[in-house]
Amino acid sequence: MSTALPTHVAIVMDGNGRWARARGLPRAAGHRQGAEALRRCIVGAGELGIRYLTLFGFSSENWNRPFGEVQDLMGLLRHYLRSEIADLHGKGARLRVIGDRTRFDPDIVALIDNAEELTRGNDLLNLTLAISYGARDEIVAAARALAADAAAGRIDPKSIDAHAFQARLFTADLPDPDVFIRTSGEKRLSNFLLWQSAYAELVFVDKYWPDFGKADLEDAVREFNRRERRFGAVG
Ligand code: FPP
Repeated sequence: MSTALPTHVAIVMDGNGRWARARGLPRAAGHRQGAEALRRCIVGAGELGIRYLTLFGFSSENWNRPFGEVQDLMGLLRHYLRSEIADLHGKGARLRVIGDRTRFDPDIVALIDNAEELTRGNDLLNLTLAISYGARDEIVAAARALAADAAAGRIDPKSIDAHAFQARLFTADLPDPDVFIRTSGEKRLSNFLLWQSAYAELVFVDKYWPDFGKADLEDAVREFNRRERRFGAVG
């Protein structure tokens, strides 16, 4: 049995709305508590020594939510980028944001660019927020980029392999996730890191995201250690 710490933990932060509804609160209150859980989780990951943490904050499909809820989530993102980046930088964390930026307001794009630029040299914790992200779109974009390179004669189609493909993904410079956690009892991948999670251990947690904390992250690490990873080979 492995006793290693996972290098990369990916999390689908699900259940903010149900957390709020269970308390008779508006969905926005659930998202606010979700942002608190995000903070706790980042601190917890740092304390545990997890080097890569990637969180699904907003999917390409989430743009279809009611306008007010999208505005609430964008407001939280704006607030997060303004208030947390100095602290993250001080802790030696590098922030990356993956997803389709063309749909963000320009001020959010600028905040993301600044945060990524400021923290580019850090490596203690690599924090990646997937926002306006969809894995199928990411995979299609990679295929399109490779096709364009092939059509222009820059690469030989025969040279296209898994390595060339992953180098075109948003996550080109990240290791694959070892553990994929989803909260709220739902057992789906929901278009998150589909290519990258080929060999990730899936851990489903019944708690809603706003109740998730460091102890739950530790439980997931223990669960990871109970699994035997064979990567398709014989154990
Ligand atoms: C899923 O819960 C959660 C989201 C769609 C948003 C996640 C956002 C945060 C954790 C807040 C911090 C955000 C940013 C952008 C920094 P849900 O609303 O789908 O819950 P439900 O399935 O119970 O309705």
